[in-house]
Amino acid sequence: MPRQLNYNARAMNLDDLDLNRLRATRGEKWQTYPEDVLPLWVADMDFPVAEPIRELLRETFENSDVGYPLNPRREGLPSMFAARMQERFGWDLDPARVEVITDVVQGLYVALLTLTAENAGAVVQTPVYPPFLACVADVGRRMVPNELVRGESGYAIDFDALRADMDAETEVLLFCNPQNPTGRVFRREELEQLAELAIERDVVIISDEIHADLVHAPHRHIPLATLGPEVEARTITLNSATKAFNIAGLRCSIAAFGSASLQNRFKSLPRHVLGGIGTLGLAATELAWTRGQPWLDEVLAYLDGNRAFLADFLRRELPGIRYHAPEGTYLAWMDCRELELGREPHAFFLEEGRVALGRGRNFGQGGEGFVRLNFATSRCILTEGLERMAKAMRSHAP
Ligand SMILES: Cc1ncc(COP(=O)(O)O)c(C=O)c1O
Repeated sequence: MPRQLNYNARAMNLDDLDLNRLRATRGEKWQTYPEDVLPLWVADMDFPVAEPIRELLRETFENSDVGYPLNPRREGLPSMFAARMQERFGWDLDPARVEVITDVVQGLYVALLTLTAENAGAVVQTPVYPPFLACVADVGRRMVPNELVRGESGYAIDFDALRADMDAETEVLLFCNPQNPTGRVFRREELEQLAELAIERDVVIISDEIHADLVHAPHRHIPLATLGPEVEARTITLNSATKAFNIAGLRCSIAAFGSASLQNRFKSLPRHVLGGIGTLGLAATELAWTRGQPWLDEVLAYLDGNRAFLADFLRRELPGIRYHAPEGTYLAWMDCRELELGREPHAFFLEEGRVALGRGRNFGQGGEGFVRLNFATSRCILTEGLERMAKAMRSHAP
């Protein structure tokens, strides 16, 4: 396998992102809005992909190596994922329990379809990444909403409400940790409580941990499946390299199963309905997990700086926005309800400030009046976006 590339890590200059390069990218982040709008919405980073991955992709094309890929199991991706989970989170995972799928949202849909009965109740903790809401409706399951509660130190799970809302037909809980959009990285005690309840009520947990590698110290990601064999046996963990390594367009993800029975039911759909990943996603994911860490460490340090800068800017220039800095992710969830904007805040900041943000309402119950801002960009672009927001506020007369 042509995996030994000559690469010397060299420091990236994340401060110096070229707007012309970004505007020339084909993805939805930079192509959805007119050129005068600064896009701080969809969860892609503006940073260049790690050089080893770029080099591998160049080499792949130079060798015209884009035929049908080898089965990912023979390529060894499940073992690489298991090794990475062991190294980073102490998770002792059997590679035989790992399936390679195209994307995490596909995993949510397939899990709901194959593991739950028609009209089964599915707990969704809002506000949440919008496909969590869509998948329950799309596959005809019944939503059991469980709104996260906001206290002085950020969002938390309302266990009393959860206990009360889960009925006998509730079969599954969709869990997002680290949580998008609130940025919570749940603590061991919270995970233990959740696991206990899932066992008591006999529900399966689909745990979307795609942001696991994007956690800010001193917080630490704990995979739910590491809490013990009983909870592991009822958990499907979804993960990928695409979010942390900024390669979402390459489509390659992981579903890890706590039991053979969950895995077999998930795989019961015909193989070609489940689809298959491409050569490039497979190659890039392998490289990200084996040699991408220096790049990720550098990016995380930069994101942490942006996180501090953003909190400080909001305090000084936009004090009407209520905000808890995220513990993980590069997403800022901002409560704009006290700004008295007279319209939804994403519309206000788009129309008056020419900044594109995520629309709070799309994240379900508890999202109304909020916006989500993606701060995975250069400090310079972030500053420009925030200054546009502050200026729009200054010229706004409620
Ligand atoms: C929590 C969460 N899950 C899933 C996804 C998307 O994953 P994929 O592109 O693999 O479907 C995102 C993207 O932002 C996300 O934030």
